[in-house]
Amino acid sequence: MADAGFKSGLEDVVALTSDICFIDGKEGRLVYRGYDAVDLAQHASFEEVVFLLWYGRLPNETELSALRRELAESSDPHSAVRDLIASLPVNTAPMDVLRTAVSLAGIYDPDGNAMDPEANHRKAVRLVAQIPTIVAYFEQSRHRREVLRPNPQLSLAGNFLYMLTGQNPSEQSVKALDTALILHADHELNASTFSARVTAGTLSDIYSAVTSAIGTLKGPLHGGANEQVMRMVDAIETLDNVRPWLDRAFAEKRKIMGFGHRVYKTDDPRAVVLRRISYEMGETAGTLTVYQLLEAIGAYVRERKQLHPNVDFYSGSVYRMMGIPADIFTPVFAISRIAGWTAHILEQYHNNRLIRPRAEYTGPTHLAYKPLAER
Ligand code: ACO
Repeated sequence: MADAGFKSGLEDVVALTSDICFIDGKEGRLVYRGYDAVDLAQHASFEEVVFLLWYGRLPNETELSALRRELAESSDPHSAVRDLIASLPVNTAPMDVLRTAVSLAGIYDPDGNAMDPEANHRKAVRLVAQIPTIVAYFEQSRHRREVLRPNPQLSLAGNFLYMLTGQNPSEQSVKALDTALILHADHELNASTFSARVTAGTLSDIYSAVTSAIGTLKGPLHGGANEQVMRMVDAIETLDNVRPWLDRAFAEKRKIMGFGHRVYKTDDPRAVVLRRISYEMGETAGTLTVYQLLEAIGAYVRERKQLHPNVDFYSGSVYRMMGIPADIFTPVFAISRIAGWTAHILEQYHNNRLIRPRAEYTGPTHLAYKPLAER
């Protein structure tokens, strides 16, 4: 059915050139603007990585302080967005809240539909600053708790945990979240970034492109997998049940969430770091039950299917130990990936050409029209 020019799912198709992110799928390396993401996760802050992705170089102290200030000043969404969040049914999926709230935020953005680079930069700052607030506001609002406004003294990671849980987070949690945000910040032409670039490629505005990206991230084959991994862990419950549960899933040809990757053919370097954090946070919490279940699942899936865990496999366990509810795991992914989305959208605007592939048509071509009465 496919000829040589057709690749199902666009596998290995190079759709554009980019200076932002490089994945070596054989070696298991992820590189942002020349820097190893694992190295950045160890030494940098998420805010530094946002700057790096946007500008192609690490900031100096003055530049980093200026970005932190801009983010802090922009972190509270327009009152219309806050009102929308407060009015939504409490059982709305948080990714749906985020998609809708970001779209609404675009309507009230002071730069409107302006497309000059300065306006787009300001909009990118607002998006990075407000997505965590939107997610935290909804969590507070659905539990009818007092909505805490952002605290400009805290880092983006610390502020999110503070607003989400209503408590001052531990240093370990803030560091772990900051590391997770760095590791999720960009990943070349993943599905959500591609959809953002397709939308930006029509010269539509940045909010429209990010709204497309959020809708794409939501699916369980992409960012939605982290939530499903923890649902699987909860369903398996005990070490004795790992093999029977997975055997059933294999027999039913179900995909095991948190495994496999289109590009990595070895360990996903992000999963390696998150695995260590999952262990460390479990030790601090005094329970390694979830970690041990993940290890047993990982070992058996590798043995039976030769599949490696991806970034979504350990992240949920880390987020749970910070007090983040399961349906907010994928929104946390968005809180990070907005850095990469905006970098890619700005790059797309800078050197734009409409993205418009072809389909290999497989239907008939010469049917004769039959009048309604004869059908
Ligand atoms: N569980 C069981 N089998 C799998 C899995 C899995 N998680 N992943 C791949 N396979 C098998 C497939 O069944 C297929 O086998 P077959 O050739 O015998 O039919 C083979 O490996 C190739 O899989 P594809 O689905 O064709 O690989 P593709 O590159 O299209 O998909 C994807 C990649 C979507 C990540 C896939 O591995 C998957 O569905 N994983 C589970 C969902 C997940 O964890 N998503 C998060 C990805 S990371 C991210 O987006 C942040």
